[in-house]
Amino acid sequence: MAGTTTVSTRAPLRSDDGSLEDVAIFSLFTLTATFWLLLTTAVGLLESFKFPYPDLGTMPWLSFGRLRAIHTNGTFYGWASIALVGCAFWVAARSSGIALQQKKLAWAALAAFNLAAVLGTITLDLGINNGDQEYREWVWWVAAFFVIAVVLSGIVVIATVAARAEREIYISNWYTIGGFIFTTILGIAAALPWYQHGLGQVAVQGFYTLGVLGFWTNLLFYPIIGSHHFEFTPLPWWLQTLAIVFSVGMLVPVWAGSGNFWLTMRGRWATIRRSYALPFIWVGVLYYFLGSTQGTVEALRSLQTIWHFTNFTIGHSHLTMYGFITFIAWGGIYALLPRATKKEPSRLACGLHFWLAFLGVTIYVGVLSIAGTLQGLTWAHGDPFIASVEAAAPYWQARAVSGSMMFVAHCVFAYNVWKMTLAPQTAGKAVTPSRLPSSSPA
Ligand code: HEM
Ligand code: HEM
Repeated sequence: MAGTTTVSTRAPLRSDDGSLEDVAIFSLFTLTATFWLLLTTAVGLLESFKFPYPDLGTMPWLSFGRLRAIHTNGTFYGWASIALVGCAFWVAARSSGIALQQKKLAWAALAAFNLAAVLGTITLDLGINNGDQEYREWVWWVAAFFVIAVVLSGIVVIATVAARAEREIYISNWYTIGGFIFTTILGIAAALPWYQHGLGQVAVQGFYTLGVLGFWTNLLFYPIIGSHHFEFTPLPWWLQTLAIVFSVGMLVPVWAGSGNFWLTMRGRWATIRRSYALPFIWVGVLYYFLGSTQGTVEALRSLQTIWHFTNFTIGHSHLTMYGFITFIAWGGIYALLPRATKKEPSRLACGLHFWLAFLGVTIYVGVLSIAGTLQGLTWAHGDPFIASVEAAAPYWQARAVSGSMMFVAHCVFAYNVWKMTLAPQTAGKAVTPSRLPSSSPA
């Protein structure tokens, strides 16, 4: 029966077309993701002010421990997941030349993602959590909604790709389907989800062979390297060593993936100035490259001795989760949403968003890398703990300032999301890359 229903929707669509319902699904994924970005980074900002001003908001529901878990889980499972799944649906349908399949499941997935984020935020703030399981602090019944959302989203993408009008499966869909399968396995295996890798590539197109090399080497190395988070712990020494070796192996997919993108850009650098999306994707790829290469260096035992447990890791987390994942998500949204809704964002706001976020995160990562190194050196030297606090203090001030720049950037982005979705239609000029004249400078 499913077969008969899909046949009627197989008629190829023009690549920029989408049914009104597809557009509504994409818009609502983006709108709710933006809500989570604003809420959870406001929380992150408050946390960053608590370092220089520890007496700020001392009530239990504003305590650092509760807010930290709200920030991390909310940015991963609220912001990044919902934003990237919205893009993944749109890419799956457009690259398959058909309308999105199983739309009811897509709506159900949206509801389940948001329900998980709402319940997760409330329970964490009430102090109901899963102990110190980092990034898995949501209690199991909250996380269950998230896993259901991932499974439903996976079904939607697989059903859409299976019904494609094209013969080839577009490379982005390999990555997204891989992401859904990995996340489901992780969610079930750990009884709780952990979701920070896999969908980041949705907006990055490129040479097929390098893309495939990147895909398979990621598959080979990534599952093992998790143990590099547990160096110098009771885990078997050989497993820690294997994780370090595979962390070096990860340079293959990282460099293949980044090289893939840069080669795609060859001869077309001029386009970057005229596109909303490309500057974000460019920074996303650069910070993926730098953050992951930094990760490999950080995994080496001699350097872990200094950097482990310090703010250096917080810098790495933001270089990757913010500089890579969040920038790629923004790039994907700016590239795809105006085409879907036929509504353009404000160019000035795009520029403001980009520069505030880019400078903000660069300063954020820079100052925390210095703070982390100073902390590690004082500990290694056997100084009293307070010496490490004093050494890091000025850098925490700088993090609060750069964090404020990032938060303002998110408000500007929210304005643009409104412009691209709910705002009344204006007859603006289309400047997304696909609409540039084909004679654009080579
Ligand atoms: C305005 C922007 C942001 C600010 C001010 C901010 C601030 C913070 C602060 C203060 C912490 C706690 C650090 C600590 O425990 O020492 C933190 C942790 C974290 N944040 Fe953010 N954050 C922001 C945006 C984001 C975004 C968008 C993401 C992910 C998409 C993210 C991911 C994380 C992660 C993964 C951690 C845990 C780091 C670790 O344990 O290594 N942050 N953030
Ligand atoms: C070649 C690729 C990478 C390698 C080898 C690597 C390596 C590492 C290492 C060794 C740590 C532990 C630091 C410590 O506890 O002292 C770490 C932490 C972390 N990494 Fe990476 N990383 C890579 C890529 C990424 C990417 C792409 C992301 C996100 C998209 C990411 C997100 C994180 C986060 C959030 C943490 C903090 C975990 C925690 O709080 O314990 N990493 N990474």
